[in-house]
Amino acid sequence: MPDHKRIGILTSGGDCAGLNAVIRAVTRCAIKSYGWEVFGICKATHGLMARPPEAMKLTISKVDPFLTMGGTFLGTTNKGDPFAFPMSDGTLVDRSAEIIEGYKKLNLDALIGIGGDGSLAILRKLAQQGGINLVGIPKTIDNDVNMTERSIGFDTAVNIATEAIDRLHFTAASHSRVMIVEVMGRDAGHIALNAGIAGGANIILIPEIPYKLDNICQQIKTRQTRGRDYSIAVVSEAVCNEFGEPIQEGHFVDCRLGGIGQYLSEQITKLSGAETRVTALGHTQRGGTSSPLDRILAAAFGVAAVELIAQEKYDYMVAWRDRSVEAVPIAEAIKHYYSVDPGGTLVQTARGLGICFGDR
Ligand code: F6P
Repeated sequence: MPDHKRIGILTSGGDCAGLNAVIRAVTRCAIKSYGWEVFGICKATHGLMARPPEAMKLTISKVDPFLTMGGTFLGTTNKGDPFAFPMSDGTLVDRSAEIIEGYKKLNLDALIGIGGDGSLAILRKLAQQGGINLVGIPKTIDNDVNMTERSIGFDTAVNIATEAIDRLHFTAASHSRVMIVEVMGRDAGHIALNAGIAGGANIILIPEIPYKLDNICQQIKTRQTRGRDYSIAVVSEAVCNEFGEPIQEGHFVDCRLGGIGQYLSEQITKLSGAETRVTALGHTQRGGTSSPLDRILAAAFGVAAVELIAQEKYDYMVAWRDRSVEAVPIAEAIKHYYSVDPGGTLVQTARGLGICFGDR
C-alpha cells in the first residue's frame, strides 16, 4: 500500500454540470484504490482563506448521491483574485499568503483544483508561491481550456442549447420568424458552433469569424425565396456588432457579456423586414443534470488526477486528447485559450451543410 495521503479538492470559477461527478470520482478512487483521506474545500480559495479553513471530510456515502446533480456541492466563486482581493473598503489586498496558510493548516499533501484557464492560472501561482502540490482538472462550458479537446460541462451545455434550438424550430416555422438564440461561451464559439450544427441552425455567428449583416439578411432572403420563411440563428455571447465593437450588458464593472441577440434582432428586422425574436439561454446552460458524456469524462479525469498524485507528478492538468486521458503541464494549458479554428473540421462541416457564418 503506498504512503497515506490527505488530499484536498476544490471547484473554482463558474459552476457547470459534471463538477459533482468529478468530486465523486476523485473521492472514490482516492479511498478505494489508496485508502487516502479526501477533504472538500468550500467556495474555492475562499474556503482556504477562512479561519478555521472551511472544508469537509468526504466519504463515498457522502459523494455518491451527487453523481447526476448540477452545480457543485462544495460551492465556488468566480470573483476575488487572491492576489488583488477586493476588500469591503474598496482596496485590493494580496491575500495569497492566507490561502497558502489555510492549505497548510489542513495538513494536505496535495490539492486537486477543478477550474477553467483563469482559475488554473491563479491556483498555479499560489502553488508555486506556497509549495502546494497541485493537479488540475479542466472544466468550463466554454470548452476554451488549451491542450484538452474537452472540458467538464461543455457537453451538457451543448445538449441544453441544442434542445432549445430543437424546440424553437417549430414555433419559428409556425410564425415565419427569425429566431435568434444567444448562447454563452465567452471569447470562444464552441457552444454556438456545436449546438448550431446539432440543432440544424441556418446561421451561426461566433467571435472567431467576423460577419456582415448583409450576408445574414441574404441568407434569410434566399431561404424565403425557397419557401423556407423562417430561420434559426445561433449567436455566441462575445460576438461584436458589425463594426467589431463589443456589446456588454448591464453594469460594465465586471464585463458581463450579453445583448448581441437583441442587437442582431433589431438590425435584421431593420434591414430585411423579417420578424425576429430573441432567446438568451444564459445560465440554463450551466444547470441541470450532467450528460452521460460529462459524467464519463468526470470519472476519467477524477481517477487520472488521483493517479498523478499517487505518482507525485504535480503541476500537471489531466486532459482529453486523442481518445484518452493524458497529463499536460498546467503552464501549457494556461498559455492561451483554445478558440474555434475557422479553417477546422466543424466550420467546414457547417459550411458544407449550407450554414451561413455571415462572412460571405
Ligand atoms: O465561463 C463560463 C461562463 O458561463 C461564460 O460562458 C459566461 O460569460 C460567464 O461564465 C458568466 O458568468 P457569471 O456566472 O458571473 O454571470
